[in-house]
Amino acid sequence: MTERELVDLYIKFFKSKSHERIPGASIIPENDSTILFTPAGMQPLVPFLLGEKHPQGKRLVDVQKCIRTGDIEEVGDATHLTFFRMLGNWSLGDYFKREAILWSWEFLTGREWLGFDPDRISVTVFAGEGDIPADEEAALLWQEAGVPPERIYSFGMKDNWWGPTGATGPCGPDTEMFYDTGKAPCGNECVPGCSCGKYFEVWNDVFMEYRKTETGSYEPLVRKCVDTGMGVERTVAMLEGCKTVYEIGVLKPLVNRIRELAGIEDEEPARSEKVIADHIRSATHVLGDDQGVVPSNVDQGYVLRRLIRLAIRHGMKLEIEKGFLGELATMVIETEGEDYAELKRNKFVILDEIEREEKLFGETLQAGIKQFNKMLPNLLKNPNKTVAGRLAFKLYDTYGFPVELTADLAAENGMSVDMDGYNKAFEKHRQLSKQGAEKKFKGGLADNSEMVTKLHTATHLLHAALRKVLGDTVQQKGSNITAERLRFDFLYAGKMTPEQKAEVEALVNSAINDEVEIGMKEMSPEEAEKTGALGFFKDRYGDVVKVYTIGKYSTEICGGPHVKNTSELGKFRISSEKSSSRGVRRIKAVIE
Ligand code: ALA
Repeated sequence: MTERELVDLYIKFFKSKSHERIPGASIIPENDSTILFTPAGMQPLVPFLLGEKHPQGKRLVDVQKCIRTGDIEEVGDATHLTFFRMLGNWSLGDYFKREAILWSWEFLTGREWLGFDPDRISVTVFAGEGDIPADEEAALLWQEAGVPPERIYSFGMKDNWWGPTGATGPCGPDTEMFYDTGKAPCGNECVPGCSCGKYFEVWNDVFMEYRKTETGSYEPLVRKCVDTGMGVERTVAMLEGCKTVYEIGVLKPLVNRIRELAGIEDEEPARSEKVIADHIRSATHVLGDDQGVVPSNVDQGYVLRRLIRLAIRHGMKLEIEKGFLGELATMVIETEGEDYAELKRNKFVILDEIEREEKLFGETLQAGIKQFNKMLPNLLKNPNKTVAGRLAFKLYDTYGFPVELTADLAAENGMSVDMDGYNKAFEKHRQLSKQGAEKKFKGGLADNSEMVTKLHTATHLLHAALRKVLGDTVQQKGSNITAERLRFDFLYAGKMTPEQKAEVEALVNSAINDEVEIGMKEMSPEEAEKTGALGFFKDRYGDVVKVYTIGKYSTEICGGPHVKNTSELGKFRISSEKSSSRGVRRIKAVIE
């Protein structure tokens, strides 16, 4: 079965259970500042999981492109990828555990569906933890489906709890489904969830019953929801009897081509080939996203830069000639552009940025080597013949010079690097930046706070005002909201003048002073276009969309939520306006 066949079958199955297909969202979250990338199908649906009405109903199904870099160190094993696709079916206050579990079983094992051998499926359920009780209902439902008790395992929150993805938001116990590859257990402790490669997690049903609050407590949700996630790559690998996810889809030709470039012939693929394949695929999708992320030293751009540079370094390890990533990215664009038209649309940008980054990294390496050579006479004086960890870290931190290369240079001069010292310095730095990142990304639409909702409405007013003042070429590129400010990226060639900024502020404030009611209507995207509603993400609209209208000021396609009346907003002020990437301006604004 191919990935496309799996996607089609899944959609067909859930359509037969009265689900509406919705389009997948961008991998760069819209409005939501709690996370850098969409890590799961549920992320774009958070406002709906928290009670907002979805225009396509209460039963939804889709396939979502996702990025997870939390396990980046594990990429290259049998199952981990930084970019992958996730199938999901949702109940927004409709069905709950019974249907979710029985349908999962039917789809996994039914002969006309995936037809997995039922004897090879095991499941895990929530064992209970703190004040939250064990999920006995899920365990009983699995037995009813036909899973024998010895293949139903119970674990705590670490394994069988999902969410929230930000500091607050919807969450609940989950039940995970594993396929047993038939490999011998790696020891007595080898149970579903073990990473030895015996068990592949293929699906996760989450029962969204709680909302984690600012104080860390769990409040029951008024409207219970189901969120599920089936990994496309993993499931196809299992259906095809493959040992790893690198043997399917676009990943297989990528690995093969990398091996060819490196002149590797017979051995099994090693980690570097797989890491390069995964990272170039991720980087291509990030660059190809319409939100227009380019390599930089902050946020998504930083992750992107890291992915590309890691791929280059693994290429160096394999002694592949420089400048090989463009060819691999082209393979991704050609294969996956069928399903993701944005890759084709943005092909030029993708290839251009990759080339630029390859060049820049080359320069970084040269600068690092120069610096190392400057330090060399002093280093050689050290009788232990070691390069101190903090110096190796300084080369990395200041020049982006990778420690493996420092170790190579040291070895060429008869020395070694104090790796323990390096790791300590690195860990300390990482903890500090993690703390910083966590603080930075608190809030966002995902936490549904009142302030965020207000800023979301203000964003619509800003968008409309910008078009009025700067002209209709202004188009939203990205939006990111925290409880403190809104951030809006839009296509526009030049810098705004102080007069233009004042005019935009005045327009937004006059809409606020007018105390306008906000209206919402559901209609088809075609009808929405006829009403003149703004909407620039055509690939992402389903059959029915919501159109939010703020009097004569703004009409825009949007999922919500919004305030009821503009009088709730307060005074609007632009706090900064600058370039975000080529041709894109970024405004930050607050309401006071
Ligand atoms: N949100 C759940 C997951 O990603 C389904 O595993």
